Amino acid sequence: MRKNIVAGNWKMNKTFSDAEELIDQIVVDMENKDLKCELIICPPAPFLEMASDYAEESRLKVGAQNINEHESGAYTGEISAPMLDSIDIEYCIIGHSERRKYFHETDEQLAQKANLLLDYGIKPIFCVGEVLEERENNTHFDVVKKQMEDGMFHLNSDEFSNVIIAYEPVWAIGTGKTASPEQAQEMHAYIRKLILEKYGKETAEEVSILYGGSCNPGNAKSLFSQEDVDGGLIGGASLKSDDFLAIASSFE
Ligand code: PGA
Repeated sequence: MRKNIVAGNWKMNKTFSDAEELIDQIVVDMENKDLKCELIICPPAPFLEMASDYAEESRLKVGAQNINEHESGAYTGEISAPMLDSIDIEYCIIGHSERRKYFHETDEQLAQKANLLLDYGIKPIFCVGEVLEERENNTHFDVVKKQMEDGMFHLNSDEFSNVIIAYEPVWAIGTGKTASPEQAQEMHAYIRKLILEKYGKETAEEVSILYGGSCNPGNAKSLFSQEDVDGGLIGGASLKSDDFLAIASSFE
């Protein structure tokens, strides 16, 4: 059985004290709920160690938002996989569309990042998704296929079984325009088929595929009830404990 997962991508939000308050609230709110999913938060890098301390004492899991594709060295301002490992971070988002767009990250770099994360026992949350023009041109399946092939499909099946995929149509991120449950299911089923063709049935059945893009407490249930949607990568709505926990409570 694959895992249901709800992960919060805080992006570049919160100060240390705001972050501590929110994490504290999430941990308290989690205690009172019988969640049918794994709950992950991905705060900004300066708060990871503090978040990791909370995770040690609770069921909450922690992920980073990015790493550099090199293991160490003269890369001023960057954060490495061994640094995350040294503070017990279990997950790391890679290939978010904002990183692809504003920081010009390529699938080749993302493939290197995935290798490093897996070497250090950290699970990559690999983001794929098309921009609006690609959906309108009907090239969205090809775009996602290429992202999967170039970023992930060099991994062997043991490695790949530690990966989480997040399908995030770029036109739905932070726009309030969510993909319909049918659109999400169609792409998730397609991604699972690509995994099946590459790695076989067992791996395809085990890998969690999350939906991201304006997911909120009002639409999470209809998205998560789709057969191939195993949870969500949540931006804006992960910044308030009530909303985040309401989304995490949306599994039937
Ligand atoms: P959003 O962001 O939920 O605010 O649309 C999702 C994401 O970028 O991961």
